[in-house]
Amino acid sequence: MGKNKQFRFAENRTFQHVVQPTFAELMEGRFPLRGRWNSDFFQRDAPLVLELGCGKGEYTIGLSRLEPQHNHLGVDIKGARIWRGARTVKEEGLAHTGFLRTHVDHLTKAFAPGEVDAIWLTFSDPQLGKPRKRLTSPLFLDRYREVLKPGGLVHLKTDSPVLYEYTLEQIAEQGLPLLEHSDNVYADLVHRVGPGEQAILNIRTFYERMWLLEGRIIHYVRFAIS
Ligand SMILES: C[S@@+](CC[C@H](N)C(=O)[O-])C[C@H]1O[C@@H](n2cnc3c(N)ncnc32)[C@H](O)[C@@H]1O
Repeated sequence: MGKNKQFRFAENRTFQHVVQPTFAELMEGRFPLRGRWNSDFFQRDAPLVLELGCGKGEYTIGLSRLEPQHNHLGVDIKGARIWRGARTVKEEGLAHTGFLRTHVDHLTKAFAPGEVDAIWLTFSDPQLGKPRKRLTSPLFLDRYREVLKPGGLVHLKTDSPVLYEYTLEQIAEQGLPLLEHSDNVYADLVHRVGPGEQAILNIRTFYERMWLLEGRIIHYVRFAIS
């Protein structure tokens, strides 16, 4: 492992706002924050917003700046990426903002039923050859149904037309409330929404900035889980 990665992993261990449960803790039902994120980690009762596959955490941080009344948690498996977001949270003194290093497959082991208010999926891998692994597959929608409050929201922002269309199909198949969608966020959607939502949609992640430089078009879907 490179020195840079070693340094980041070591610093992550010193951050109170980075949680790294062990596989055994999660699998054996011993993860102490499950069902207690608001009371024990954020230490306040507020809507809990997750970003799954958060990478360096740009959406988690951007949402935290815009919506400080919510509790924000970025989830990713890669510690060196989470470190970037965790460092920014510390440098800016952003309150009620943290990171969970775990596999998204362990979502229901890390969160109790109905504990989460909203989930952001930002530039998730479209898993072109493996639809079952897409973060909006029926398998994942069932997991979201478990951890989200009734009517909880899922937001998808993606450069992938395949993932965008697939998500719309899943929403239709499951009869879920489709609240907003656009196949071109910056040419269409941002001009139709109010300034608050515009600011949220204008948050750009590391991957989004790369794809925009390549000229890719950005898609967005918001739906509720029922
Ligand atoms: C394409 S990147 C997008 C990162 C970030 N959202 C962005 O837009 O810059 C996908 C992210 O998902 C994370 N990821 C992939 N599979 C994962 C899994 N099974 N559990 C948790 N994170 C995962 C990767 O580590 C990576 O940071």
